Order: sequence, then structure tokens, then C-alpha cells
Amino acid sequence: MAQEVRGVIAPGKDEPVRIETIVVPDPGPGEAVVRIQACGVCHTDLHYKQGGISDDFPFLLGHEAAGVVESVGDDVTDVRPGDFVILNWRAVCGKCRACLRGRPWYCFDTHNAKQRMTLTDGTELSPALGIGAFAEKTLVAAGQCTKVDPGVSAQVAGLLGCGVMAGIGAAINTGEVGRGDSVAVIGCGGVGDAAIAGSRLAGAAKIIAVDIDDRKLEKARSMGATHTVNSRENDPVEAIRDLTGGFGADVVIEAVGRPETYRQAFYARDLAGTVVLVGVPTPEMKLELPLLDVFGRGGSLKSSWYGDCLPSRDFPMLIDLHLQGRLDLGAFVTETIRLDEVEKAFERMHEGDVLRSVVVL
Ligand code: APR
Ligand code: ZN
Ligand code: ZN
Repeated sequence: MAQEVRGVIAPGKDEPVRIETIVVPDPGPGEAVVRIQACGVCHTDLHYKQGGISDDFPFLLGHEAAGVVESVGDDVTDVRPGDFVILNWRAVCGKCRACLRGRPWYCFDTHNAKQRMTLTDGTELSPALGIGAFAEKTLVAAGQCTKVDPGVSAQVAGLLGCGVMAGIGAAINTGEVGRGDSVAVIGCGGVGDAAIAGSRLAGAAKIIAVDIDDRKLEKARSMGATHTVNSRENDPVEAIRDLTGGFGADVVIEAVGRPETYRQAFYARDLAGTVVLVGVPTPEMKLELPLLDVFGRGGSLKSSWYGDCLPSRDFPMLIDLHLQGRLDLGAFVTETIRLDEVEKAFERMHEGDVLRSVVVL
């Protein structure tokens, strides 16, 4: 039987979000209904509300979530009612060329849930990133659910659903940071700080945090940065070279998404180093580089998609590390809020002292 629950809707471009009653149908084949316990507020939710991602209003926002599986469709065997799960927004097919070549994060044929949730008047909802988890319950594809140790709090577990996984994965998966490496992270918001935590986890010897805001640099230190550079006051490329014996960093992770920081990342790497691009630029941004510099610098330039993660491999591992006290995921939760405080959390995003606001249900 379809159920009615509360959810946070973005009704139209730039309009404030509001709580509405939403109708969640029973799970069909390949689907699961999840009772959401916590969901982080991500910049992508704000972009949906601003109309920057699609015009398919109304959106059911929220995509960084954990909860308990309530019911599953007939043929679902991987998860069962009662399982504690983290949701992901890329349920991969396992069959396409990207999946078969061992790069499922580029899967051509992701199987997220079909849009089947509605308002009570029948209006179809578009769930953000195929999830829609600022709601008491949501309908997802079973492949979007990854079971993890239920000993972790939901507010911490949900973080791995998006931003924190993107940052940790940029370091450990895309950048392949290893023991003894020097790493520079440009931009120390939630994603950059997660890249710092991931680099520490991977055994980096030197972790240089770069930001324009001293408060962010202070926080970055607590996440594992060994050195900090305020790029308003110092040239970050020179500073990174100075701190690495004149060579540049083995891995530079860009977590801002702007031309000037892409440029800094490009020049701050060691000639054989790796640049990892995790900051997302806007369509009109461009970067001009002397071809001789592109040719003359070795190493590699990689973009990182959702931290190049494989949820079934990475979520349980990172939760285990957290429970063992080797990775402090709790440090990313700045505040917990109610479902009706999402609009306020969007406003707080610009204030600079929030890594993550997390809705707890
Ligand atoms: N140089 C260095 N740091 C900068 C600069 C700059 N020119 N401009 C902004 N920053 C810093 C901000 O001070 C902030 O600490 O970058 C950080 C960005 O953090 P958030 O706004 O919290 O964003 P976050 O959630 O970390 O995401 C960063 O990664 O996945 C992408 O879409 C995401 O593009 C976004 C990026
Ligand atoms: Zn695939
Ligand atoms: Zn997100």
C-alpha cells in the first residue's frame, strides 16, 4: 500500500523549499523503500533548488542519506527489511564497457529508481540524484542501498553518500595517495577536508592545505593537514614547491572548481605527479595554458567522479575504519537540524563555518 510521509520539496526555480506530504508507492521489482534516519545538506541540493541542474520541478531534495530498509520488491535479494544502509546515487549495471573494464564509476547504464513518488494531487516528483531523502521514507533502486555496520550513527553514515566520499575517494581511489607521499589540497570545504582525511589515512607524509579563509585552514589542520597556506596572502604554487624541496606535490587535489585553482593545481604538482580534479566548474569557465607547459609536464591529470567509489567496497570499509577510531567521520557534522530547517541550512552554507548540516529524522 502506498504511504504518505513528509518530505522537503523545491517547488520552482529559486523558490524557498517547503515541507509537503508525499506519496511513496510500494517497492516494485528491483526497488526498496527506506526509512530515512539522516540526510546531509549538499551544494547539489542547492543547485537543484536554483534550477542549475534541470527544470524538472518539483524536486524532492536530499541525497546524502542513511536509514533502514523497510520493504523490498519481489526479486530483491541483496538487501532485506531491517538492514541499515547508506544510499548512493550511482547504482551501476556491472555489464557495460566501463563496468567490465573495472571502472564502474563511469558506468553508462546506472539503475537508479524510476520517478514514481508524487504529491497527494498526483504531481510527479523528481528525486534529487535519483534519491530524494529529505523525507521520512523514500523509494530507491535496491542497488542504491549498501549495507553497513549498524553500530555507526546514521548522521555519520549518511555523509558517505556524497561529499565526504567524493573527497576521501579523490585521495585514495583517484589520486592513489600512498605511504610517504606529499599531497596538496586546494580548497578546504567538506570535500577538501575529506581529501585531507583520506590522505592521512593513506599514509601521506606531508599534507598541505590551501584555502583563502584562515578558519578553513585551522579546521583542515584538525583533519590531518601538516602545513597550511593562505592563498590570499601567498602564492600557493610557490609555497607548495617550497614545502616539497622545490619539486611540487606528488598529488594535488583541487576541490574548488574555478579556473585559478585549476591552474594552481596544474603547476603545483611534481613533474611526475598527479592532479586530481574534484571541484566542479560551471559550463562557461575556461582555462588557457601554454601548450609547452602541458607537453612539458609529465604525470597525469585526472578528474574524480563521486570519488571513483564503488559503494559496496568503499562504504563498509570506511565505516569500519570510523568505528575503529582510525577515521573521524563525525568531525564533518557541524550541526544536526530538523526537516523544516533545510532552507536555513542553505543560507548557512555561505557563512563559511559549516562543513555539513545534517537533517536527523
Ligand atoms: N582558493 C582556495 N580556496 C578557495 C578559493 C580559492 N580561490 N575559493 C574558494 N575556496 C575555498 C572556500 O573557502 C571553501 O573552504 O574552497 C572551499 C569550498 O568549500 P565548500 O564551498 O564547502 O564546497 P565543498 O562542499 O567542499 O565542495 C567543493 O567539490 O564536489 C565539488 O561540487 C563540489 O565544486 C564543489 C567542490
Ligand atoms: Zn555499467
Ligand atoms: Zn551531493
